[in-house]
Amino acid sequence: MTNDMMNIILFGPPGAGKGTQAKFLIEKFFIPQISTGDILRENRKKGTELGKEAEKYMESGELVPADLINRMVEKRLSQSDCESGFILDGYPRNTEQAIYLDDILKRLNRKLKAVISLVVDDEKLIKRLSGRRICKQCGISYHVIFNPSKQEGICDSCGGELYTRSDDQESTVKNRLRVYHEQTSTVIEFYRNKNILFEVDGNGSVDEVRSRILEVLK
Ligand code: AP5
Repeated sequence: MTNDMMNIILFGPPGAGKGTQAKFLIEKFFIPQISTGDILRENRKKGTELGKEAEKYMESGELVPADLINRMVEKRLSQSDCESGFILDGYPRNTEQAIYLDDILKRLNRKLKAVISLVVDDEKLIKRLSGRRICKQCGISYHVIFNPSKQEGICDSCGGELYTRSDDQESTVKNRLRVYHEQTSTVIEFYRNKNILFEVDGNGSVDEVRSRILEVLK
């Protein structure tokens, strides 16, 4: 696969490792990561209308309404840095969004090459999310046990302060997983039917999962 064909979706439940693995793919293929969750959090930080509207859904672990998300993704995918490829992380999250994405890509004359679906047990997802720490500056994810930073509370990469996401508390995590199983997992069949779905075992170490993804993208 060459760079100009690297239009990828990293798919999976909350805590599957989408953000963690996307950071490696950005560096390897020089393509941007488009994380709808990150864009929404950035909007909340800046206090935009979109951020204000999204807040209550994100805090409870529900999906933000599709009309807000779809327009946001279309605008981002139309930017010039996506021309040689992109990694979508956290989108699409239901069949309605997947159909809308097809329309966006048609309008932009682009095609999806692979949907990499990370498969991880729920029990492990809860452990991963409850120990997650994220860098305030560069967004890299750590885990207090599975993937700790060298110095507690400080990012290895940029020295930024690490924080815990407000939706990583247990009750919200359980709702996010319920929403995933009820609404988001339907997207798997949508892409299986298009023959671009690659299911990758997301258990094991970060390095092991990365090798499996790179094998698929070879
Ligand atoms: P979003 O930000 O997209 O969150 P998510 O999908 O729930 O996924 P996460 O970011 O929690 O997990 P991840 O898979 O990236 O895991 P990570 O790599 O960090 O969405 C948040 C909210 O925004 C949604 O609930 C919704 O309200 C809204 N939203 C976003 N997109 C939307 C959309 N399209 N439509 C509607 N609403 C939308 O890893 C997790 C932890 O595990 C880390 O600590 C990491 O260090 C560790 N870890 C990773 N890999 C491994 C490994 N192999 N072994 C051990 N530990 C590991």
